[in-house]
Amino acid sequence: MDYLCIVPRIPLDDKVEIVESLVQGGGPAATAVVAAARLGAATVFCGAIGDDGRGLQIVKAFQTEGVDVTGMKISKGAESPAAYSWVDNTSGKRSIVWTHGSAVPLAGADITAEQLQDVDVLHLDGHQTQAAIAAAKLARSCGVLVSIDAGTVVPGIDELLELSDIVIASKKFAEAYTGTSCVSDGVRKLFFGQRKFAGVTVGKNGSIGFDGENYFECPSYQVEKIVDTTGAGDVYHGAFAVAVARGMSWDVSMRFATIAAALKCTELGGRTAIPDFETVERLMNC
Ligand SMILES: Nc1ncnc2c1ncn2[C@@H]1O[C@H](COP(=O)(O)OP(=O)(O)OP(=O)(O)O)[C@@H](O)[C@H]1O
Ligand SMILES: [Mg+2]
Repeated sequence: MDYLCIVPRIPLDDKVEIVESLVQGGGPAATAVVAAARLGAATVFCGAIGDDGRGLQIVKAFQTEGVDVTGMKISKGAESPAAYSWVDNTSGKRSIVWTHGSAVPLAGADITAEQLQDVDVLHLDGHQTQAAIAAAKLARSCGVLVSIDAGTVVPGIDELLELSDIVIASKKFAEAYTGTSCVSDGVRKLFFGQRKFAGVTVGKNGSIGFDGENYFECPSYQVEKIVDTTGAGDVYHGAFAVAVARGMSWDVSMRFATIAAALKCTELGGRTAIPDFETVERLMNC
């Protein structure tokens, strides 16, 4: 759950008055799955929450979007995950502090082959790493594409990256993991293991991709006003997965994800302005 405030400036040892606030479901894979649902995909989310009020809100938000929640593990008496975010009113940039809460993490055995039947893409965000590794192995054995949002260098990430067909990293991750600040070198270094596509997102500077042969550059899509960039990466990942599942090529999938992510930035919250498929399709043809 995201607790978001637009503020005139991000204060440090100071006070400012809130311009606008919002409580909304968040989280990298969780918002990606909502984006995929909004863009017309049938979706299932697997994650761990508590049975507190926040947990109920998290589930309700998924259900409202039509996301299947049968893979949610709910721990009695536990606190659900939360993030508190301050968004700068001028730039849309933000500061975030967050907690996993105290819910029992997913175990490998919580993900079954049955759940992966008829699935095109398994999207992971690096959280719940042990379960993610087990799920990625299972997905590979079922012929399901494995995609990962590489946002944070966590223990187990090497194995997870090895197992992923699609790795799209934030610029920060790419720099930390590959040891280079040159994104075009970084994206090539992320192409290893079982990889079919590696990408790096660079905020308002767009994204780059590499499929082992071809290098792609996709500038960001220009919208009238950037209000809040929270979840831009998450929406990019969810939209990219939808595009790939629909059979779009890598570069067209990047363009599709780029437009969806930019539109997301036009309102407060990671999920508020996620567009539908027809809207993105129309803008792609403009
Ligand atoms: N200011 C912006 N204007 C237009 N598009 C943007 C902007 N910021 C982000 N995007 C789009 O969203 C994509 C992902 O953004 P970014 O690289 O910031 O993700 P991230 O680092 O994973 O952050 P987070 O997951 O916290 O949103 C970018 O590649 C770009 O296409
Ligand atoms: Mg991200």
